[in-house]
Amino acid sequence: MEELNINIATAHGPCPVRIAVAGGAVSSISYADGVHVDPHRLLVPSPVDIHVHLRDFEQAHKETVATGSRAALAGGMCAVADMPNTVPPVSDRETFYRRTELFSREAVCDYLVNFCVYDEYSLSQAASVDPFFLKVYLSDTTGSYTLPMELLERVFMLGKPIALHAHFEGMKEAVRLSHKYGTRLHVCHVSTKEEVAFLAEHKTGTITCEATPHHLFLSGDYDVKPPLGTDEDRAALLRALGTTIDIVASDHAPHTEKDKRNGAYGLVGVETLLPVMVTAMLRGELSFEAFYRTVYAGPKALLRAMGYDFGFDVGRRADFAIVETGLRDAVNPARFFSKAKHSPFEGYEVEARVVETWVRGRPFFKDGGITRHAKGEQVARS
Ligand code: NCD
Ligand code: ZN
Repeated sequence: MEELNINIATAHGPCPVRIAVAGGAVSSISYADGVHVDPHRLLVPSPVDIHVHLRDFEQAHKETVATGSRAALAGGMCAVADMPNTVPPVSDRETFYRRTELFSREAVCDYLVNFCVYDEYSLSQAASVDPFFLKVYLSDTTGSYTLPMELLERVFMLGKPIALHAHFEGMKEAVRLSHKYGTRLHVCHVSTKEEVAFLAEHKTGTITCEATPHHLFLSGDYDVKPPLGTDEDRAALLRALGTTIDIVASDHAPHTEKDKRNGAYGLVGVETLLPVMVTAMLRGELSFEAFYRTVYAGPKALLRAMGYDFGFDVGRRADFAIVETGLRDAVNPARFFSKAKHSPFEGYEVEARVVETWVRGRPFFKDGGITRHAKGEQVARS
């Protein structure tokens, strides 16, 4: 059994607790009365990045499941959900099982695997697989996996959870179809104030959405889809964090330096999500509650609603990151575990860094390295 006396992130701010971990699970949590806790260490429960592109297959030069999952652990993430716009795409049964098998062999953090629907054939295959989400691209992205609009309704008729990458009009149609069929819909990387306003009005219990740290905190030109917005867009996203916006996810989409120079869309994000979000919370750019809801409670609620055993509670899997605070550092892509060493956050000042990541009760990342315990598993259904 392990015992930790530490500040845990709650909706009301850091709270000193005594946590016991045994057999991979949290065995007790109690208020740490009169015990000294390090004011510069914060436990973040069950961080998960539900939007990463770990590439591999024919793009192993950009990232592999091994390097990307190591980057996830170094970023404090206990689990990731992998996007299917790979080469070849995860859009048929055989490739789906090949992808799952690759993760079971190579991933050092826990994982969920998505499936891409973009034509008649992948639509027909989707009925016989059990992915985290069916990913639907309605607008242009890396790879050419855009679903023709006239097939969208048939994807919703399958009744499987859908993660959506779309322009505003496509998003509106998907929301309408989610209402019509009761199909779960997760809207990826919301980035404009118009999208936020629309979702605030039309979101129901089966609809969730995410925002990325880059859309929350950066503006200007960077090759990424959707593009970085205006200061007004960023303000609207920040205001909606934890209410309309349920989840913060990175959209970690690594490319080679040469591809980036040639305008490839996407950025390295899984290692900067927590430091950037914790820093914003410490600086008061977002409330404790907004942090807690979008980094912990939102993802947990979504995964539980989808039937997964996830979230930090007594009797459940002990997943957490420990973040050191009270420091000044600048994001330095040269230190990334990811194969790709570039970031629009390069030089961005942070006041937090991930020092440990525990998965199912064991330290998988510690002392600056991946430990011998680190072995990923598919997040189980409860
Ligand atoms: C992503 C990629 O490169 O896979 N790029 C991006 O700019 N976000 C694709 C995507 O998620 O659209
Ligand atoms: Zn993406």
